[in-house]
Amino acid sequence: MSVLVIEGPSPLCGEVVIHGAKNSALPILAASVLLKGETALKSCPKLSDVEATAKILRHLGFKCVRQNYRDEKNAVLISGYPKRNEIPHYMMRKMRSSVVFLGALLGRTGEAKLSFPGGCDIGARPIDLHLSSLRRLGVEINEKHGCIICTAPKGIIGDYITLSFPSVGATENIMLASAISKGTTVIENAAREPEIIDLANFLNICGAKISGQGESTLIIEGVSSLYGCEYRIMPDRIVAATYIACCGAAGGEIVLRNSPNQYILPMLSVFEDAGCVLSIYKNSIYVKAPKKLLSPQMIRTMPYPGFPTDAQAQVMAMAALAEGTTVFVENIFENRFQHIPELVRLGAKIKAEGKVAIVEGVKNLSGAFVKAPDLRAGAALVTAGLAAGGITTIGGLEYIDRGYESIERDVSMLGGKIKRI
Ligand code: EPZ
Repeated sequence: MSVLVIEGPSPLCGEVVIHGAKNSALPILAASVLLKGETALKSCPKLSDVEATAKILRHLGFKCVRQNYRDEKNAVLISGYPKRNEIPHYMMRKMRSSVVFLGALLGRTGEAKLSFPGGCDIGARPIDLHLSSLRRLGVEINEKHGCIICTAPKGIIGDYITLSFPSVGATENIMLASAISKGTTVIENAAREPEIIDLANFLNICGAKISGQGESTLIIEGVSSLYGCEYRIMPDRIVAATYIACCGAAGGEIVLRNSPNQYILPMLSVFEDAGCVLSIYKNSIYVKAPKKLLSPQMIRTMPYPGFPTDAQAQVMAMAALAEGTTVFVENIFENRFQHIPELVRLGAKIKAEGKVAIVEGVKNLSGAFVKAPDLRAGAALVTAGLAAGGITTIGGLEYIDRGYESIERDVSMLGGKIKRI
């Protein structure tokens, strides 16, 4: 089992290109179930979650390969049609976000059978909003033996849906189920995340008629069929935020190329309050860390355009070294403080109670053996390890590799003393 070894403190000085967004790639890969002909995805990140999704596509009967395509190295090409419409238990358990295949299978075949995705490390991850929304679109859903069996006897019929919470996954499932349908579907209180915009833009190039993406009211006018296209997946805003936090914590200055700057804006003020200097260019960002980090005071995670829950752990690792106290309120997931005990092992002073964590800045962290309990917690440990004095060894890389192409390659490009052994 491999581990990351970081020799700190390791101020950063370098530049890196931000890879494609995991949370765009996964729903866009699932959307290819809807498409006739061939799809070519560019900048599709090499992540274990992407490979798990490709395996599901192949299980469903599609061809899904990574190869050079025109001027693009390592594009992901998908073609074929669904020969099955069920996803087995072991595939669902491996990656619960496969629930987004539900809408795609229903939209293309009118049937879908998959096991309940179940919870994960950061929360119970219910799918009640997904199921109640699909029922409004004419889907009949039976739940038994841990399976969800869905059929749309009269096809998918557009309707008016109000989400009680702007769920990203539920919004995606409704878009995928209703892109090919009769009538029009309106989603009120839709998720506004950039990845929703990417999915809608992709579907529109394939022939869908979606408008309002990025706003709270999303309108999907059903069409009769959709066709594959060439598409470049947007850069990963959470990966970019992770490396900014690494620079803040470890010190130094970095440049992020291919950075999705307009989607980082909700986080910018936090980094600036901490004393970082950020200069935004067309699609790159220059970051200079302060000599001494200041506390960003209060961070509340919210649905987009609020501060993203996926950057909470990494910013907490940075705040552990800031002068003063920082209060974190995690409003999205009920168990997203698993990084705290590991950060405390590195010398951080953090107390958590329910969805609130109080971080009292310390002068230094010191290296130790730590283990990533989930994806973004792992990224937080890399952030802290770069600042800690001495050797930090990080296990649990199977989590980190779900969302970062090669975190040691990127952090080394940024000048960090890190290696995977
Ligand atoms: C997506 O998860 C992302 N995953 C998550 O990223 C991200 O943290 C999350 O959106 C919020 O931005 C992917 O895109 C693959 P939600 P998703 O549905 O769709 C509750 C990462 O680190 N809820 O917006 O599951 C739910 O319990 C991952 O890259 C219901 O109650 O997020 C949670 O508290 C982690 N019922 C909240 O809504 C439902 O039917 C947010 O969930 C659905 C959700």
